[in-house]
Amino acid sequence: MKATIGIDVGTSGTKTALFDETGSLLSSYTAEYPMSQPHNGWAEQNPQDWWNATIRGLNVVLDKVGTGCEIAGVGLSGQMHGLVMLDKDGNVLRPSIIWCDQRTEKEVAQMNDVIGREKLIQITANPAMTGFTAAKILWVQNNEPDVYEKCAHILLPKDYIRYRLTGEFATEVSDAAGMQLMDIGARNWSNEILGLLHIDRSLLASMHESPDITGTVHASAERETGVPAGTIVVGGAGDNPAAAVGTGVVSEGSAFTTIGSSAVVYAVSDTVKIDMQGRVHSLCASAPGKWTVMSCTQGAGLSLKWLRDTCCLPEVLEAEKQDVDPYVIMDKLAANIPIGADHLLFLPYLMGERSPHPDPDCRGVFFGLSAIHGRANLIRSVMEGVAYSQLECVDVFREMGVPVGDMVVTGGGSKSTLWAQMLADLYGCPVSGMQSDEGAALGAALLASVGAGIFTDVQEACAAVVKRGKTLTPDAEAGKAYAPYFELYKKLYIDMKEDFRILSNL
Ligand code: XUL
Repeated sequence: MKATIGIDVGTSGTKTALFDETGSLLSSYTAEYPMSQPHNGWAEQNPQDWWNATIRGLNVVLDKVGTGCEIAGVGLSGQMHGLVMLDKDGNVLRPSIIWCDQRTEKEVAQMNDVIGREKLIQITANPAMTGFTAAKILWVQNNEPDVYEKCAHILLPKDYIRYRLTGEFATEVSDAAGMQLMDIGARNWSNEILGLLHIDRSLLASMHESPDITGTVHASAERETGVPAGTIVVGGAGDNPAAAVGTGVVSEGSAFTTIGSSAVVYAVSDTVKIDMQGRVHSLCASAPGKWTVMSCTQGAGLSLKWLRDTCCLPEVLEAEKQDVDPYVIMDKLAANIPIGADHLLFLPYLMGERSPHPDPDCRGVFFGLSAIHGRANLIRSVMEGVAYSQLECVDVFREMGVPVGDMVVTGGGSKSTLWAQMLADLYGCPVSGMQSDEGAALGAALLASVGAGIFTDVQEACAAVVKRGKTLTPDAEAGKAYAPYFELYKKLYIDMKEDFRILSNL
């Protein structure tokens, strides 16, 4: 039997999953690791932790299936925008500055200064973003010149794993687009942007399309991981564009919402579509020849995890007793609270925000706290706040003429029917789950299947393998009940925008 492997280098852990040719999951394992926050708004991880998690995952999944299958290929997926810097011998120079890090406000101003806002948008399809990799590279240039001096290779998180597996310095368009160093229309590095930012092109990896073969597993990686030397490794995709493949969102008109640590709405288009205000991102899609409009709420599942870890010890203990996930208990509590959480609103800006408010200074808010509120209200309002943020982004998509009428929901948060129904009610369109919740790992494995020639293209692979689950229809009455809270939710950011700035400067 032929099988493919998808490796998804996430923020809380790396998932390694093995699928057969029909896309059925044979075995999967997630190894976790920490994220460090040396300062308010900073976020770093150790690339060696990702590699250790990959080794562990590959050993576990391959052990489980034994020798009965031939590995046709490996696909990589991973958290986007992270900065990995290596010296000339391939050693990691400093911890990776990851996607949700917000330290680069000055570098964003620098990019606008040296490139010009209009030109930057024209070429990279996005205004300067604190979360994107270019600003992080400038931060190292400005603050750690000795590190920059030694830097010989700049990689994204999943591309570091590719380097450890194959020895190749390669990337692909869907993830590289989020570095803000590409000409998005041309699907390659922009010499003009690189020149203006004084980034030597030789530091960057070779560019490929997502299903392209980028190298093969080398002998020492075989010894560590058990994947046979010579196995092909394809470009893969950033975690969101990989999830697009895993959910069958590969043609114009289709879209998904994923609720993981961050929440993302991702829609495919046949041409590059740009929001000049930078409220949502325009990137290359993992489907060759397609582009995407994508939004990112920085603190989605991350907000609920924060609430679980700081306030919900009783629910965690109850979950242990019942042998279920604490989120199951938290979800039940939230389901008993009415729409509007008894007049409590949450703004999910624990890690600053990107979409639709690119603002590193804003922070989380509970608005309307009263002595009548208990933990159940807090949980419900966090879920609602994250859902409002998705609708605010979908409204931008619709304003840009990107149709959103067929929505798939995926990610850890989609396990909550309550949360998925909130999205259906707010979007006013049906929202479908997936039969497999492997999302990005499945997408990465399907890209490997295309690279290995099992399917001719990404669209054919998705049509053969990806299966939708239950569809939730929107409840118009609930939609009406949410509407005034959503209006107030939107107003709160505008009202507090200046106060966030004052707070951050105190
Ligand atoms: C997308 C983004 C996040 C990370 C999380 O722009 O930053 O979704 O990819 O893994």
